[in-house]
Amino acid sequence: MFLTSIQLQNYRNYYELDLQTPNKVNVFLGPNAQGKTNLLEAIFVLALSKSHRTSKDKELIGWQGDSARIAGGVDKKYGSVKLDLLFSAQGKKARINGLEQRKLSDFIGSVNVVMFAPEDLEIVKGTPGVRRRFLDMEIGQVQPGYLHTLQQYGKVLQQRNNFLKASYGGSANLTMLDVWNMQLAEHGVKIMKKRKHFIHKLQTYAEQIHSGITNGTEQLKIDYRPSFDTDALQDESVLFDQFMIKLTQVKDQEIRRGVTLAGPHRDDLAFFINGKEAHIFGSQGQQRTTALSLKLAEIELINEEIGEYPLLLLDDVLSELDQNRQTQLIETFQSKVQTFITTTGLESVNVSRLQDAGIYHVQGGRVTR
Ligand SMILES: Nc1ncnc2c1ncn2[C@@H]1O[C@H](COP(=O)(O)OP(=O)(O)OP(=O)(O)O)[C@@H](O)[C@H]1O
Ligand SMILES: [Mg+2]
Repeated sequence: MFLTSIQLQNYRNYYELDLQTPNKVNVFLGPNAQGKTNLLEAIFVLALSKSHRTSKDKELIGWQGDSARIAGGVDKKYGSVKLDLLFSAQGKKARINGLEQRKLSDFIGSVNVVMFAPEDLEIVKGTPGVRRRFLDMEIGQVQPGYLHTLQQYGKVLQQRNNFLKASYGGSANLTMLDVWNMQLAEHGVKIMKKRKHFIHKLQTYAEQIHSGITNGTEQLKIDYRPSFDTDALQDESVLFDQFMIKLTQVKDQEIRRGVTLAGPHRDDLAFFINGKEAHIFGSQGQQRTTALSLKLAEIELINEEIGEYPLLLLDDVLSELDQNRQTQLIETFQSKVQTFITTTGLESVNVSRLQDAGIYHVQGGRVTR
């Protein structure tokens, strides 16, 4: 897919922007705090209806007004669409070709993006919560039904936790717990199956890409680490039974502590480079390459699921990669993926590799070519 234009109104520090983006590679140049990340963020928001930087939509609205608008034209395999997203105190309104979408889930995924930003290093180095968020964002983007299941799971989890807290110390009506267990496992199993499937595919692509970037010297493996032991080949009913057994095993502990101790809300991922766990033994550069390989793998994965390549958003990351990795990144993708790059200076970027690039200057919420 191809973003042909983007319009912003009162979005962050953009009062009014109408930008044509006819190029395959787009470079946004400018000093700090001018609006480079804001622009990539806007493209990201157009795809997912929420920001990668904040969960508070209110922050996206420019300080000068009380609503913000992002619109964009996207050429896809089967035609062009005009996307429109309005944020105000009343919430958000989404339109596709002028038609208001009653459900946001019908809007999400109209355009697909993969963003790679410096904070993605946290996927390797950070807490399990960061990795679960990564999984959820990526799976959700290609399978909107996943987010719905996740929401249902979250509700049951919250109710179950409330129940556990309330029954603290006593054995009051624990048959109720069995009811929560069934519901928790029912939704939880669906999430786990999807995660397992996604990680398996991600691993296949990421391993190849990582090997390419490191000239075959590093082998990347990704392991799914659910909160209880399961076998990758087991079917849903077996997984359900294992989940229920685990809940029985941790029951006393849960009542004592007042929280749910098993389920996908405690899942994790582990990355191995040549058999060694990356977040413990990996160098900073190896961790960065791992994060990059994951993001590039996602591009292939989206293509496999959707049938076309997403947009690639590279926020401030090229200068952090050595020439070798930059070249690998650019060469692999400039033929097939429309790319939006931000940087404070071209000197650290291998521009000679950027064929057909549109170079834009960003200053104080204005963009010029
Ligand atoms: N809701 C908002 N309304 C108005 N301005 C905002 C809003 N949110 C953020 N800004 C401003 O937008 C400016 C530009 O932010 P942005 O993150 O896009 O900078 P950048 O060009 O990516 O800089 P850097 O090179 O440091 O990453 C910031 O100075 C910030 O104060
Ligand atoms: Mg920035």
